[in-house]
Amino acid sequence: MLKAAGQAHPQWYPMTAPVEFAGHGPLIIAEGEGVWITDQAGRRYVDGRGGLLNVNVGHRRPEVRAALIEQFDRIAYYPSFDGTATPVSIALAERLLELTAPEGMARVLFGSGGSDAVETALKVARQYWKLEGAAARTKFISLRNAYHGTHFGGTSLNGNAAFREAYEPLLAGCHQVETPWLYRNPFTDDPEELAAICATLLEREILNQGPDTVAAFIAEPAQGAGGYIVPPASYWRRAREVCDHYGVLMIADEVITGFGRLGDWFGCRLWGVRPDIMCLAKGLTSGYVPLGATLINQRIAEAWERADTPAAHMHGYSYSGHPLGCAAALAVIDITEREALADNAAREGARLLARLQAFKDRFPLIGDVRGKGLMICLDLVTDRASKAPASPAVARRIADLARQAGAVLRPAANYIVISPPLTLGATEGDIILAALDAAFTATAMDN
Ligand SMILES: Cc1ncc(COP(=O)(O)O)c(C=O)c1O
Repeated sequence: MLKAAGQAHPQWYPMTAPVEFAGHGPLIIAEGEGVWITDQAGRRYVDGRGGLLNVNVGHRRPEVRAALIEQFDRIAYYPSFDGTATPVSIALAERLLELTAPEGMARVLFGSGGSDAVETALKVARQYWKLEGAAARTKFISLRNAYHGTHFGGTSLNGNAAFREAYEPLLAGCHQVETPWLYRNPFTDDPEELAAICATLLEREILNQGPDTVAAFIAEPAQGAGGYIVPPASYWRRAREVCDHYGVLMIADEVITGFGRLGDWFGCRLWGVRPDIMCLAKGLTSGYVPLGATLINQRIAEAWERADTPAAHMHGYSYSGHPLGCAAALAVIDITEREALADNAAREGARLLARLQAFKDRFPLIGDVRGKGLMICLDLVTDRASKAPASPAVARRIADLARQAGAVLRPAANYIVISPPLTLGATEGDIILAALDAAFTATAMDN
């Protein structure tokens, strides 16, 4: 039942103030097909959010349905605790290791989503150092503007205070360093100089903490929810060099960037870097069933597998390796490969980005247009010179107007995020552009 204006809603919505819905309620999406979604009143929109940057292969794919039904008809659930498994979880683990062979991944630990994948990575990193006889290596370093999900570990590493402050005090030993953000940084306009400065700041923080106390550096290959920030090309290579120099593990949080969103299968592949641990979720199943995975390389796996140190991995979830999630993931990976969706994301993303760059000439509200592949962000400002962020209400108004014009896009802080399914074609891309054009034109007339 729809709630009348002013009534309390039975469901609370993540990242939302309950009072915001008191007047009008949420947008209720009833159906989806391909890149299209339909609301309860029957209005169709291009899904310019791609669900939550996860519906990579599009909605209601018959191949995924068939895989889910086939698995359901065998067994829908069996755990992977205490030495049991299912054929489908083993098949997916093998497939993930094939896919990440260039990154050198060697073992897979499943969970139920991105926050689980990060939590698992942090626990693996701490236990690894204990097994290695370096128990003092417990600290983590992350980037300002990072987003690593909502468990207490990830929350402690999130680089925006807004995600942390309601839940403090947080995990001890989490420290943030400057992110290489070209648009807003106090140092330079030169991308490579910025990469060098930020890598040096990472090194200084490792030295400041004491290298023998640092377990891992964690970062997203391109930052998502904290600001949709694409680093300069050499940043990841430089950060890897710093980590190697001090023996610090590198964790790539690929929850958004994995499975093609940036125009390659994995974000760290774009930067030519092999991390020690990779966190995967979202595009892994394209959102059909919740599933996450944490992948580790041989260096880490060996610490548990040496015969002289039998150690349990005392971590896991009831739904680790859920058979339905694994079946969905295998079908989604097939589609991603067969339809070369990473290439499509690169092509359609470049086209959208170029067209949106031209919006800057017409709409002073847009301070910056940035992104890679099909993760694009419009950074709204009150004034281009100061780059002062526009209020979240402005971003929400733009998104509302764009929705009325046929595209659902995500307003987040002062950003408008464009992250459609990777199956997006030029026609639907044009609908997103036209909807944004209408929204910015109407907003310009407000003033
Ligand atoms: C980089 C990154 N890590 C972790 C998460 C958390 O994933 P989940 O919402 O599936 O728990 C997200 C979610 O957006 C993310 O973007």
